[in-house]
Amino acid sequence: MLRQKRLLITGLVTTDSIAFAVAERAQLNGATIVLSALGRDLELAEAAAAKLPSPAPLIEMDVTRTEDLDAGREKIGELLGGLDGALHAVAFAPRDALGGDLMAARPEGIELAFRTSAWSLAGVAGILRDLAPASGGSLVGLDFDADGGAWPVYNWMGVCKAALQSTSRYLARDLGPRGIRVNLVAAGPLHTRAAGGIPGFDHLLEAWERQAPLGWDPRDAGPAADAAVFLLTDWARAITGEVLHADGGYHAMAAPPATTDVPEGQERRAYAT
Ligand SMILES: NC(=O)c1ccc[n+]([C@@H]2O[C@H](COP(=O)([O-])OP(=O)(O)OC[C@H]3O[C@@H](n4cnc5c(N)ncnc54)[C@H](O)[C@@H]3O)[C@@H](O)[C@H]2O)c1
Repeated sequence: MLRQKRLLITGLVTTDSIAFAVAERAQLNGATIVLSALGRDLELAEAAAAKLPSPAPLIEMDVTRTEDLDAGREKIGELLGGLDGALHAVAFAPRDALGGDLMAARPEGIELAFRTSAWSLAGVAGILRDLAPASGGSLVGLDFDADGGAWPVYNWMGVCKAALQSTSRYLARDLGPRGIRVNLVAAGPLHTRAAGGIPGFDHLLEAWERQAPLGWDPRDAGPAADAAVFLLTDWARAITGEVLHADGGYHAMAAPPATTDVPEGQERRAYAT
């Protein structure tokens, strides 16, 4: 599905990272990848990268820094000779921007959360635009569906994700004429390091347990990664500005199903993997 595709995969830190699951699938489907990680996470990312099916170069890139994005563009050009797609799997918000009193969070922290979690999509898009061949490319970001309403605890990260959605649509507008598609995968809650920083993450897990008609396994990034890989392939060639939900169907339910919705003698179960 990804033969001859050259991909940048950002956001690797552990083997639980959604980026790891995408990198693994990308390699197994024939892609050549370059990984990027934040400087302070480089050692952990190296250890995770060693568990991928094939070796892949790992570069240091802080996506909030234009100098790093410029250096990353140059390095990726040298390593791959061009770029057909990129995964943006990066988010951060300081502790006081997640949970607690929404109005008490420091504006400086919110600015950093926005720059890291939303603005950086445009930064990575710039790298793809500059390195993509005339045939175009595909940029995929990771969303936690935040356009529709307010979540428990998610606070300013929810606002950043709403901004990410909006940014992806504007990028789809501007890059479409170059054949570059921009889409998001809205995943259900997954046990990754980033999720570990969300106080009250269990509230979200419980909500999924009650409301996802297909069930949801928070330890399996596979379904979200498969959706991202699809969007990176040419099979998604007419799709842009889209949010593809890989969330067990949670988003499509207005309320948790009544217990009588499960046929007698059957139990609600997670999707087969
Ligand atoms: N885990 C979930 O429940 C969940 C659900 C939906 C969407 N997402 C999104 O998936 C994406 C990946 O997160 P994850 O859950 O795999 O967690 P993760 O902790 O494995 O990955 C987050 C990554 O962001 C990187 N990062 C943070 N600041 C950075 C910066 N300035 N420059 C470069 N990299 C930086 C970290 O180094 C880390 O590799 C995020 O956008 C997250 O919001 C996560």
